[in-house]
Amino acid sequence: MGKEIAEQPDAVRSTLLDRRRRDGTIVFDELRISDQELREVKRVVLVACGTSHHAAQVAKYAIERWARLSVDVDIASEYRYRDPIVEIGTLVIGVSQSGETIDTIQATREAQRRGARVVAISNIVDSSLAREADAVLYTRAGLEVSVASTKAFVAQVAALELLALRLAQLRETLAPEEIDRLLEGLHGVSGHIATALERRADVDLVAGQLLEAHDYFFLGRHVGFPTALEGALKLKELTYLHAEGYAAGELKHGPLALIEPGVIVVAVTTDAHMHEKILSNVAEVKARGATVIAVATDEDDQIDAVADFVLRVPSTEPMFTPMIDIVPLQLLAYSLARGLGRNVDRPRNLAKTVTVE
Ligand code: AGP
Repeated sequence: MGKEIAEQPDAVRSTLLDRRRRDGTIVFDELRISDQELREVKRVVLVACGTSHHAAQVAKYAIERWARLSVDVDIASEYRYRDPIVEIGTLVIGVSQSGETIDTIQATREAQRRGARVVAISNIVDSSLAREADAVLYTRAGLEVSVASTKAFVAQVAALELLALRLAQLRETLAPEEIDRLLEGLHGVSGHIATALERRADVDLVAGQLLEAHDYFFLGRHVGFPTALEGALKLKELTYLHAEGYAAGELKHGPLALIEPGVIVVAVTTDAHMHEKILSNVAEVKARGATVIAVATDEDDQIDAVADFVLRVPSTEPMFTPMIDIVPLQLLAYSLARGLGRNVDRPRNLAKTVTVE
């Protein structure tokens, strides 16, 4: 797992490589859907499980913001059994590192049976999901063997945001120069991930002080929310401790009752647009005795006054932050799990690919 975390800059760089023609057109690996059919997409549904579901949730924000298309994200095992509505012009995107997760495969089959066109985001070439889809965009994260998915996640977000930009290109919802600016920014993400990786000693220091903790909340707003969900999943599947990811705005609707001294709250605070709001959420939990770890940008000069620990990352375009902010959260789960004597590559009760229901 440590090796795969360290391979994340290359995973993103490789996933983005050679995806843009000289004229700026974004290209897919295999495309059995015409540009015209993609132009006629009226609604997008993403289906996935686990970490891939969190990457899909990031994609919702990007596709809606850039391509102005309505997006639903569904847990694959729920989608396939709820008699889903598929109208003309529905594009279903199946997201899966292995491309063999039975729930995701069955969900895309159900969608195809009802007339949807399907795009697969797969890390394994010629996986079942890739073979059955109408179009494929491969993540090129390299083989991921550790049960806890890390480099596949950042590669999935990169591929999905590329797809969102392709849809924006075809629908002309963004000016070409804005698409170019965003693509430039996307290509800069691997460098920011490398910088975040260089700061792993800061994370180890924090983890060393939390070995007695047993109750974690991860909070985020906007794309920081799926980042918080993914950070919570990493912590629970590696340390076997209770961890929940929550939209920070939901605190007052119940979870705040659980906050008391001893509870660790990890707040993703890097999105400039939501900064004031998330800081007020941090103040709320601090006032109730929580210990706060904040993932914050290098430029943030307010966070030290409100958080107990601050894990710094380079700032970037808000939509790209999940690929960078997840690095200290992966390292935190990894370091805590090692400190607790867990097997980080083969956590108990879990398999790398869930090929059975
Ligand atoms: C993530 O760390 C877990 N290993 C698990 O949630 C995983 O993301 C999920 O089973 C989906 O796997 P897939 O991406 O291969 O479909």
